[in-house]
Amino acid sequence: MKNNSTIKKYKRIAPFYDKFMGNRLFRKARQQALSEIEVKPGHSLLLVGVGTGEDFSFLPKRNAITGMDLSEDMLKIAERKKNGRNITLLQMNAEEMDFQNQKFDIIVLNLILSVVEHPEKVLEKSFNYLAPEGTILIFDKFIDSYSHPNLIRRLLNKVTSAIGTDINRDFYKIKNALPIDITKEYKTLNGLYTIIVARDSRTTNDISV
Ligand SMILES: C[S@@+](CC[C@H](N)C(=O)[O-])C[C@H]1O[C@@H](n2cnc3c(N)ncnc32)[C@H](O)[C@@H]1O
Repeated sequence: MKNNSTIKKYKRIAPFYDKFMGNRLFRKARQQALSEIEVKPGHSLLLVGVGTGEDFSFLPKRNAITGMDLSEDMLKIAERKKNGRNITLLQMNAEEMDFQNQKFDIIVLNLILSVVEHPEKVLEKSFNYLAPEGTILIFDKFIDSYSHPNLIRRLLNKVTSAIGTDINRDFYKIKNALPIDITKEYKTLNGLYTIIVARDSRTTNDISV
């Protein structure tokens, strides 16, 4: 089953993850992405596929954060970065996430939609837990909407897929018919990564009426 192989994969990756993803350039891009959200006092945050908690240092210390991830090994590293903050970490499959009636003001999907088996399911599930007028932030590798990946990208994808990342996903196909309003979208890191800020279009439409 894919989830078991993901857990095994991240068991191997976890000890090295921060060495690769904690480099200066990448942290700068991550900071840029997280600076796109306005976190107000009292806002609750959900980090889907929180990994080793690399986002924590770019988020205000006062806010309650829930981080969930399939990999216990990644979560163990995130645990060490809590530093007494109001951060709850849960081992959970994003495709089946269940927070009952809880809603989050900000949901962060950093480097997760290119990794999970069913990204459309994860986006839809996340969206279900978004508070009215809440914000979704996405920072990931997507191809240009409705474009066909070129040969280099297709070849590169064979390599990245081996480590569990599909670089040829199209966010607009993932989002499909969800009532999501993209309020900002741009490329970063030499055009390899995309930053997307989105809201529930039903509430943004309400505001403009
Ligand atoms: C590339 S890492 C990104 C981690 C973190 N979001 C970041 O920005 O550094 C992908 C993470 O997604 C987690 N993951 C993969 N499939 C998942 C699933 N179905 N449910 C929850 N987490 C999952 C992995 O365990 C891993 O921690």
